[in-house]
Amino acid sequence: MRNLDRMSEYESLSEVEKAARIIYLNKTCYNGLFRVNSQGQFNVPFGRYKKPNILDEAVLKAVSKYLKRHHVKLLDIDFEKAVKNAKKDDFVYFDPPYDPVSDTASFTGYDVNGFNRTEQKRLKRVFDDLTNIGCRVMLSNSRTNFILDLYKDYHQTTKIVRAARSINSKALKRGKVDEVLILNYEI
Ligand SMILES: C[S@@+](CC[C@H](N)C(=O)[O-])C[C@H]1O[C@@H](n2cnc3c(N)ncnc32)[C@H](O)[C@@H]1O
Repeated sequence: MRNLDRMSEYESLSEVEKAARIIYLNKTCYNGLFRVNSQGQFNVPFGRYKKPNILDEAVLKAVSKYLKRHHVKLLDIDFEKAVKNAKKDDFVYFDPPYDPVSDTASFTGYDVNGFNRTEQKRLKRVFDDLTNIGCRVMLSNSRTNFILDLYKDYHQTTKIVRAARSINSKALKRGKVDEVLILNYEI
């Protein structure tokens, strides 16, 4: 199932079949991690579950109903484009790929194009633009000196949170890691 995206027949799958495959992999691969290699192929090792709940029909239907009822639109596009039409008083939350806590941390490896510090800086510019328009913006990231320095203008409204990060591939390093919550407003 995981290898399917390395095979030519993958292209003939319907969108629903592709989505079903991702749900299956999400429920059976290691820790629910989503990661792809540089060719965009899913490469998470299989997990050890005794009885994975692969098809949670009630939850899937409830989520589907909610998304439909509230006319939620899911976009698969770059963040800058996604918020292009944001206007005053809109709320925007960014949950970008984590800035690595150490040079060997592998968090940034799970996107086809990577998400390096140039991207983090581009995101900060978008954060500023939305602030200037009058949007309420929230952004989470790992607590690194780079991120704290990048968002130092928002120092007054930055919160440090202890977050359980369950997607570290090294079990010992899982547990609690500090994260930052950058806000452009007071709570
Ligand atoms: C920390 S994860 C967010 C997880 C999500 N909040 C959730 O609960 O499933 C970061 C996400 O940013 C996405 N991403 C990477 N580069 C992006 C870009 N340029 N524009 C928009 N999203 C991007 C990645 O594909 C990944 O899904």
